[in-house]
Amino acid sequence: MMTNTVILPDSTSKTLQDIDPHMDLQAEINRLRREKNAVILAHYYQDGEIQDLADFVGDSLDLSRKAAATDADMIVFSGVRFMAEVAKILSPEKTVVIPDAEAGCSLEDSCQAEAFKKWRDAHPDHISLTYINCSAEVKALSDVIVTSSSAEHIIKSLPKDQPILFAPDRHLGAYLERVTGRDMVLWPGTCIVHEQFSAREISRLKTQHPGALVAAHPECPESILEVADHVGSTSQILKFVHEAPAKEFIVATEKNIIHQMEKDSPNKIFHPAPGADGGCNCGNCPYMELNTLEKMYLAMVNETPAITMDEDLRARAQKPLDRMLELAPAAKPSQNAA
Ligand code: 13P
Ligand code: SF4
Repeated sequence: MMTNTVILPDSTSKTLQDIDPHMDLQAEINRLRREKNAVILAHYYQDGEIQDLADFVGDSLDLSRKAAATDADMIVFSGVRFMAEVAKILSPEKTVVIPDAEAGCSLEDSCQAEAFKKWRDAHPDHISLTYINCSAEVKALSDVIVTSSSAEHIIKSLPKDQPILFAPDRHLGAYLERVTGRDMVLWPGTCIVHEQFSAREISRLKTQHPGALVAAHPECPESILEVADHVGSTSQILKFVHEAPAKEFIVATEKNIIHQMEKDSPNKIFHPAPGADGGCNCGNCPYMELNTLEKMYLAMVNETPAITMDEDLRARAQKPLDRMLELAPAAKPSQNAA
């Protein structure tokens, strides 16, 4: 679902048909990166060749911090649209471009601002903790933004008698209720990727690979988290896999993260978690995979699709993001892929 926060390419912009098939894309992207003083930020769910070209690869919290701190003139955000919006909210003076403006998120789509506002208004005593996977409009209506690596810490910092609304991921919300002991009112959204893994098929795979440890993202339903040896954000899963003495792992999150795992631990074996049919195609985010090196090159040449935002909306959305940056655990040493 497209929002009004993107300036799209126009009739003068270069298109995929204008790209010479013999051109060295990586070299051209590197030239543009120097010429335009651009920084390329990528999420772990991006294709391996994009991760390898990025200046920085991280989870949603790491990427927000990088976007807030960069002194580049242009941020090329290879992730999904809400992540690029966060970069623009935190660094409004920068040009923020994204390879594909259609790169949305099922969680964002599940939580439209008008319905969210009604929900908030129906719970006047509750504060609203909102997962970063949402639109700028929903952020502007929230009290504190959280990511999967900061939510538990932030909830534990709130007074015990403070009622909480949590949106939009009900599986992450239920997981946070279990680990913090807090009751929260949950919005009913889900991630279409993490919802497809099968606990039965994961257990079957575990039997075939005795000793394999299961690492799962908290966007997975409870049935998956119950068979997991570790639950965490993408960066926490990477840390677990790096440090655990096991040689084999079953990975219940978007499968492009395995690219970082294989780079970091070449002697370990990684199995994408299967879905109900026993296959593993369910592990690809259809939004993240819209981004390609060709589209990244075009975004840098055309300087579109670019994030734009009404200043009033931006300033309102910045407040709960600033609270997240204040309340989140301290930053860990950065993980650069370049
Ligand atoms: P993290 O990288 O913060 O764990 O988030 C995962 C995700 O769903 C990105 O869309
Ligand atoms: Fe959204 Fe799920 Fe894709 Fe993350 S993996 S961007 S939560 S649809």
